[in-house]
Amino acid sequence: MADACIIDGKKFSAELQEDIKQRTNILKKEHKIIPGLATVLVGEDPASEVYIKNKEKRITEVGMVSYGKRLPKDISEKDLLAVIGTLNKNPDINGILVQLPLPHQIFEKNIIASINAHKDVDGFHPLNVGALSNGNEGLVPCTPRGCMILIDSVCRDLTSKTAVIVGRSNIVGKPLAQLLLRANCTVTVAHSHTKDLPDLCRSADILIAAAGQPEMIKGDWIKPKAIVIDVGINRKKTQNGTNRLVGDVDFEKALKVAEAITPVPGGVGPMTIACLLENTLIACCLQNGVKVPDA
Ligand code: GUN
Repeated sequence: MADACIIDGKKFSAELQEDIKQRTNILKKEHKIIPGLATVLVGEDPASEVYIKNKEKRITEVGMVSYGKRLPKDISEKDLLAVIGTLNKNPDINGILVQLPLPHQIFEKNIIASINAHKDVDGFHPLNVGALSNGNEGLVPCTPRGCMILIDSVCRDLTSKTAVIVGRSNIVGKPLAQLLLRANCTVTVAHSHTKDLPDLCRSADILIAAAGQPEMIKGDWIKPKAIVIDVGINRKKTQNGTNRLVGDVDFEKALKVAEAITPVPGGVGPMTIACLLENTLIACCLQNGVKVPDA
């Protein structure tokens, strides 16, 4: 059997970013509006710093304004809520992103709920979560949206397909289940208590790995000709002592079985930021009562 098609997330992300850049330019020219995104990082977690810097760089690349906020790791929940309150009131700021995870003294749910839902470009606010499950308009979480774009690139009509998502996080698993349901898939969300996981995975036309476990999905867990979307980003020590990024899927083995598969790095990862840019553009237009420029 021929190797699977490798879905090039870098390419799709670059295309979407270019598209957002042009639409941002139209907004500037026709309405004199420039979208602004506030990125809030609490503490100095090295991985979070890399993610946030990348987001800030890409925001400015498309002609939007980035408002970076760095806060000490021992900030109280009350003080962080006050910062969010100020950002909520600032009309130049159309999107607010608080990088997760937060330090233990802060209750994440309180912070997410305090963000104005119209500025919640992560799509994590209860109003946006509810809108997604009801099928109403709202801001959709970025990583699941990115996964759907990649799936769409290899399969236009998902009607009646069986989708299995391994991982039930609020950031990926649960919202992605809603998007796949909307696309008429039959969806199962598996997690650490699921029985017979290999068999369940083998039933999937579309298999999404979002468990955060390096290479846990083996080649023989994959249905021949399945679409495999790997959301995992894990660091693995190689034999010569260096670090290598791997996903949640045993990529080399999966390549021999699947129809299409996303690599790590260069698959889902780059799509998340591109979708964040799109959410910031949408949020800005809604707040200003103007139509979102067409793609
Ligand atoms: N941490 C890991 N993924 C995400 C994300 O998509 N948004 C935020 N705010 N934090 C994260």
